[in-house]
Amino acid sequence: MNKAFEFHTDPSSMEPLFPSDNGELEALSLELTESIARLSGSMNLTTRRAIAELLRPMNSYYSNLIEGHDTHPIDINRALNNDYSGDPTKRDRQHEAQAHIEVHRSIFEEIKDVSNPVIPSSVDFLKRMHRDFYSHLSEEMKTVRSKDGSERKVIPGELRDCEVEVGKHVAPSHESFPRFMDRFEVFYDPTSTANSSKLKRIISIAASHHRLAWIHPFVDGNGRVVRLFSDASFMYDNLDADGLWSISRGLARTHDEYYSMLANADLPRMGNHDGRGNLSNAMLVDFCKYFLRTAIDQTKFMYAALDTDNILTRLNTFCDAMVARGKFKTEMRYILIDVFLKGKISKPDAMRITNTSDKTLKNMTDALTEMGLITPKKESILMMYYAAYPILISPWLFPGLYPTSKESDMMELGI
Ligand SMILES: Nc1ncnc2c1ncn2[C@@H]1O[C@H](COP(=O)(O)OP(=O)(O)O)[C@@H](O)[C@H]1O
Ligand SMILES: [Mg+2]
Repeated sequence: MNKAFEFHTDPSSMEPLFPSDNGELEALSLELTESIARLSGSMNLTTRRAIAELLRPMNSYYSNLIEGHDTHPIDINRALNNDYSGDPTKRDRQHEAQAHIEVHRSIFEEIKDVSNPVIPSSVDFLKRMHRDFYSHLSEEMKTVRSKDGSERKVIPGELRDCEVEVGKHVAPSHESFPRFMDRFEVFYDPTSTANSSKLKRIISIAASHHRLAWIHPFVDGNGRVVRLFSDASFMYDNLDADGLWSISRGLARTHDEYYSMLANADLPRMGNHDGRGNLSNAMLVDFCKYFLRTAIDQTKFMYAALDTDNILTRLNTFCDAMVARGKFKTEMRYILIDVFLKGKISKPDAMRITNTSDKTLKNMTDALTEMGLITPKKESILMMYYAAYPILISPWLFPGLYPTSKESDMMELGI
């Protein structure tokens, strides 16, 4: 670290915390809420929840990919079935993906539980996400090596006790940054009266993404925690459409722009017409525009991907391929179609639509359960079959969620 460098020591040096612009950010926030409302209205809640479970691994894939950890979705799928690679690096990354998926699920459950109010910007919540993520990682993954060869250990859930640089930005000194965190927590608290406007809170989700990355509160893992924090903030405001889209997919697909937008927003104020804070207002505005446009783009992509007619056509193509591979009886498609449309069906209904005997139906539902394509659940005296979508079905039903080369491997492997 440059010895002559003067650290930021006063929280006022991260001002402005909220961008000032000519109204375009409000317009983008409104567009995002409209796009999310359309997405939330698509299909029934049970099917949506099942698809959201399919998207959780995708979210982890992209957030880890941004950090250069390209874990094949096939390996993520294996990890979810407790099948770990013999190669230590691959295995570590399987655990990393799994840890991310679990933290993301627990945030979702915590935030949806209204009896237990959560403040996403709180230091306590951010530390907990870091702790829960890192406590599942290997010693190797908890070791950070600097350019000079020195090593540092990441302690799950602990704020840093050392100085850090990210790109050209030197984060606030470790002695003073807890005060930056306190300011961050209060300023971006969505329950505070200053934040009662929903459009303002949406713009704050964008601005706080940069400011948290700028504070860089942990030795490592800041990127993953910052993106989980954004996920949590979207969930908090019911902007996640129950988990039907992921900001990380958009940030990963525009990785270079993401990093250059973050770096630009680190810059100091440029002249008298660039706000009144220590940092550039214009660059914060640009970052927020980039972030909100990325969010809008992702919600539109998912809305198109979830178009019911298209999914039914793809579901049939998938079933044809499985029949051709000898893995399916053709009647099994009727169960999958009905389950997709209704979220769940009962055993008598499944018998009626497949027009088969009890024994044949059992063979079919056992096979579908084994492939992870339905989840059976007994409800009082009735056996119900619930929608379920394993990772490997995603290129068949929702092409484009993962990079093309990964999807080809997944389709070849089958289900
Ligand atoms: N110039 C920058 N200013 C602020 N944050 C940045 C900058 N460049 C990158 N970042 C953020 O820092 C993250 C990397 O920090 P790091 O602690 O290594 O996270 P992780 O361990 O999750 O990789 C990136 O994902 C990005 O969100
Ligand atoms: Mg890192």
